[in-house]
Amino acid sequence: MATAIFTLMFLVTMVLLQLMAVAQTNGSMPVGAFITATNDAPSWLSSFGEFAFGFQPLEYKDHFLLSIWYAKIPEKTIVWYANGDNPAPRESKVELTGDRGLVLTDPQGKLIWSSRILHGPVSSGVMNDTGNFVLQNSNSFTSWESFSNPTDTLLPTQIMDAGGVVSSRSMETNFSLGRFQLRLLVNGNLVLNSMNSTTKFAYVEDVYYRSGTSDASNPSKSGYQLIFNESGYMYILRRNGLREDLTKTALPTTGFYRRATLNFDGVFTQYSYPKTSSSIRSWSPVRSEPENICKFNSVWGSGACGYNSICSLSVDRRPNCTCPQEFSLLDQNDKHGSCVPNFEISCKDNGKNSSEDMYDFVELRYVDYPSGDAEHLQTQNEDQCRKSCLNDCLCGAVIFLGNNCWKKKLPLSNGKFDSGFNGKTFIKFKKDHIPPGNPGLQIPETKTEMDIKVITGIVLLVSSVFVNFILLSTLCFCYSFIYRNKVAIVREENIVESNLRSFTYKELTEATEGFKDELGRGAFGGVYKGAIKTGFTNFIAVKKLDGVVEHGEKEFKTEVNVIGQTHHKNLVRLLGFCDEGQHRLLVYEFMSNGTLADFLFGSLRPSWKQRTEIAFGIARGLLYLHEECSTQIIHCDIKPQNILIDDYYNARISDFGLAKLLAINQSQTKTAIRGTRGYVAPEWFRNTPVTVKVDVYSFGVLLLEIICCRRSVDLEISGTGAILIDWAYDCYRHGTLDALIEDDMEAMNDVSTLERAMKVAIWCIQEVPSLRPTMRKVTQMLEGVVEVPAPPNPFPFSEISCS
Ligand SMILES: *[C@@H]1O[C@H](CO)[C@@H](O)[C@H](O)[C@H]1NC(C)=O
Ligand SMILES: *[C@@H]1O[C@H](CO)[C@@H](O)[C@H](O)[C@H]1NC(C)=O
Ligand SMILES: *[C@@H]1O[C@H](CO)[C@@H](O)[C@H](O)[C@H]1NC(C)=O
Ligand SMILES: *[C@@H]1O[C@H](CO)[C@@H](O)[C@H](O)[C@H]1NC(C)=O
Ligand SMILES: *[C@@H]1O[C@H](CO)[C@@H](O)[C@H](O)[C@H]1NC(C)=O
Ligand SMILES: *[C@@H]1O[C@H](CO)[C@@H](O)[C@H](O)[C@H]1NC(C)=O
Ligand SMILES: *[C@@H]1O[C@H](CO)[C@@H](O)[C@H](O)[C@H]1NC(C)=O
Repeated sequence: MATAIFTLMFLVTMVLLQLMAVAQTNGSMPVGAFITATNDAPSWLSSFGEFAFGFQPLEYKDHFLLSIWYAKIPEKTIVWYANGDNPAPRESKVELTGDRGLVLTDPQGKLIWSSRILHGPVSSGVMNDTGNFVLQNSNSFTSWESFSNPTDTLLPTQIMDAGGVVSSRSMETNFSLGRFQLRLLVNGNLVLNSMNSTTKFAYVEDVYYRSGTSDASNPSKSGYQLIFNESGYMYILRRNGLREDLTKTALPTTGFYRRATLNFDGVFTQYSYPKTSSSIRSWSPVRSEPENICKFNSVWGSGACGYNSICSLSVDRRPNCTCPQEFSLLDQNDKHGSCVPNFEISCKDNGKNSSEDMYDFVELRYVDYPSGDAEHLQTQNEDQCRKSCLNDCLCGAVIFLGNNCWKKKLPLSNGKFDSGFNGKTFIKFKKDHIPPGNPGLQIPETKTEMDIKVITGIVLLVSSVFVNFILLSTLCFCYSFIYRNKVAIVREENIVESNLRSFTYKELTEATEGFKDELGRGAFGGVYKGAIKTGFTNFIAVKKLDGVVEHGEKEFKTEVNVIGQTHHKNLVRLLGFCDEGQHRLLVYEFMSNGTLADFLFGSLRPSWKQRTEIAFGIARGLLYLHEECSTQIIHCDIKPQNILIDDYYNARISDFGLAKLLAINQSQTKTAIRGTRGYVAPEWFRNTPVTVKVDVYSFGVLLLEIICCRRSVDLEISGTGAILIDWAYDCYRHGTLDALIEDDMEAMNDVSTLERAMKVAIWCIQEVPSLRPTMRKVTQMLEGVVEVPAPPNPFPFSEISCS
């Protein structure tokens, strides 16, 4: 009897084992296997059936996504995909081939996507139970694997090395490339940044989370791998073996699926999902970064939400984007996309009807658009502030706080809900059917309470104003402290103090033969070559200042006088000016050898000696502007286009002093500043004051360009190499300076100067302004008068952008 029962049990067990063997594959697929995209297409399962590889139907009708998903949960959550930008039409085919690995073709046989294999030919493909799809060659070497080509999700056991990238999709159900990236930089930092989804190029200034695991002074402490281990913990492994935990909580050991996804809205979240059915079966967040994505002030993009949109943080640290009243979504399906006005603001209406009859404002409380100020005015009250916008056909919104009034153009960027913000935001809209005299026009009480909150608000707003305006990326505005007067301002009208000559417009028209020969074009107008008889020179460069006409005559003369008082051999000399009604022009000496940009990036590389001399010259010129002339001048736009080369190949700084000149207007705005992408110091975008150190930063970038003869941002070079400061620092850190100068033997033979210049440059580009040396120190270090200590990592620890 006992034997019979035992035999029966044995048989049952055998049958069960047999059944299981049939139900399971070993996850392996031979070359030649294929799947056709249809609604009931089979998929390739991993051996325990955890993950599947195959086609998932998209919402986009009759199109499919080649992907990997969790096979055992109803949501079929996708963890990897191949053709996000090119959805595959029905009847497309994916085939495992020997020479190219996975090949996805449309029904006509046209290639949609293929894997890039390393060691061929491929002999099989394996869907692993970890979620990794692996192509192997006959020696069982990995030719390709999905884990090394991540899309927006990382899985336990997956490792991302330095240089690795995870990119968001564009919407929850649209898998084309989105706006955000997670990158492990070569310097060891894990960063989240926004990107241009057209060029797929990271906006390096737009970092909104940084792990702080890069340590220049002790590279062994820098991170080099992002590890998502088997038990679901995510950490950055440092070279010395220590871990920087990103999962800060203790996790239950088993029983959960885990993934980490860079969501389409830019938030990087670790999720868990119970394996066995419990009451709630869904993905729940374990941890997210950043803490508050709405605080992100994007320099080149719209911010966390689209243009004009307002970001508020919802539960789970995810952004909630809403359009202001009178605006609606550009794409109804893209809730995080841009908002567009339901009306048109145009200058064509000018004069026909009074603007007050045509426009009104939506008033928003606790909403701030901290970036992109077109103009900063001081107004007595809210009403004046609104009026200034009403009467400016280009103005789209104003923010009023204290007696400050910030005018903005559309589109607005970085909009956010901020309960600590005490200003009022007024967004202009066109009243189409609303009769005049409606309640919206009534002026609210204008009493301002100067409590702590207001002060906080002012601090917030004042500092947040230093965010570059995207559209006018070559032109942005800043405050009076840029331009701190060390001595009493020159007496009004007193223009004779400097040797400046006052030209008539007619004289300059003749000198330039009707502004015929344009030498260049800046943000403010053209520069023209001319010839006159003066004591200084025969040739002149005449700079037209378009758009500064309404500025007070007195201020114009004061500023011109400040510029006229500067004398230094590394500055371009101002000879005179013209101030005649709407014509405002500056007359400079003419520089025969063009700009440093032409010189450096032209076809013939200037010699190392010439380059070092130029670098020294610029440093001396800046030192003079900062410390030695009677009125301190912060240049605010140091870049190779603003450095000219004279007959003797001396570097001559041009366009200094214009920052202030170009923003004087009827309402006492003090200064303006220009900044150019790639050269602007990070504090422009932070809550820290702007000082002479912004020029030191730009000089550091320029110095690297001079050393390497390469542009600070080179879009033709892919990956981290595109950003000179990142690349240069990596080369410095790894002791591979020779890579920077390529085959420049002269520089190679002058390693001590090269090393010194590199160290100085890295000191100058420190993110923390106080760490940057003064220009005096810079000149001393460059000239070898003082030692150059080893610079710290310019992209420092614990720096979460915009917090
Ligand atoms: C998987 O099974 C197939 C046949 O079912 C076999 O040819 C192949 O060698 C197996 N692969 C592995 C990795 O076990
Ligand atoms: C997905 O988004 C991209 C751009 O972000 C767009 O071009 C494409 O039409 C979208 N696809 C669908 C199906 O909506
Ligand atoms: C699946 O991946 C694990 C971890 O990488 C590895 O140990 C295992 O051999 C893989 N299985 C197959 C069938 O390739
Ligand atoms: C992205 O890059 C393209 C091509 O350079 C450019 O036209 C576009 O304006 C960029 N988009 C943004 C948001 O900067
Ligand atoms: C995963 O990492 C955590 C935290 O570093 C550690 O406690 C745990 O032992 C690791 N698990 C495995 C399987 O290595
Ligand atoms: C998003 O914000 C809007 C307006 O404040 C609110 O009505 C909505 O409930 C919010 N949505 C979420 C998911 O928080
Ligand atoms: C100007 O206002 C009048 C009455 O207020 C209105 O009839 C007319 O259409 C307006 N014109 C324009 C161009 O809006």
